[in-house]
Amino acid sequence: MNSFPVIAIDGPTASGKGTVASLVAEKLGFHYLDSGALYRLVALASEKQGIDVKNGPELGLLVPKLLISFKNSQIFFNGEDVTDAIRTENIGLRASALAVHPEVRSALVGLQRSFCQSPGLVADGRDMASVIFPDAVLKVFLTATAAARAERRYKQLIAKGLSAKLEYLLHDLQERDARDSSRGAAPLVVAEGAKVLETSDLLIDQAVKTVLGWYQSASV
Ligand code: DC
Repeated sequence: MNSFPVIAIDGPTASGKGTVASLVAEKLGFHYLDSGALYRLVALASEKQGIDVKNGPELGLLVPKLLISFKNSQIFFNGEDVTDAIRTENIGLRASALAVHPEVRSALVGLQRSFCQSPGLVADGRDMASVIFPDAVLKVFLTATAAARAERRYKQLIAKGLSAKLEYLLHDLQERDARDSSRGAAPLVVAEGAKVLETSDLLIDQAVKTVLGWYQSASV
């Protein structure tokens, strides 16, 4: 049983779950866990150390050695601010590739659960409701069409002054969707009891309000 209430928000890449989850956490004064950032950190660290993305056992051994810290919305690895470095498409694809290994997933369980602190937690990822926090008071599966998600990602990259091609982004996103959903270990699934929120035609604010409303109903 979780000691404090947990809202688990899962969904495919670029579904907006990070934005929605962090805003819900802010409104409730809860902690926020971006579990994808942990997989991305493993991707970055293993790339730096030249570990093959197919080597599950070695990647699993790397995890406990990583010095990870969070300050507000910044992420540090070995004291270095890697907030932007882990957000590239290349690191996202690498994270998806190494996330198939049970050794990596089990090495990250304790760290993810340690985020459940007073007064509560909003956690986003792929297996928050199904594996990490099965007792979550509210389980949400946030999704949007691949075209809507690719367009959102495109706009985010352009706004950051980075170059991007919509068709490449759509292709990468579909590749990651297929791998994240078909892997044997903790695949991306709509967990039992999860409420599905389709956000293709929703504004962020509307999605946040919906989740807050569901939480209020779930916690009375
Ligand atoms: O949410 P994201 O795009 O930052 O996640 C990057 C990759 O990490 C994603 O493609 C699959 C993996 N991941 C996972 O397997 N389980 C999680 N709970 C979160 C992310």
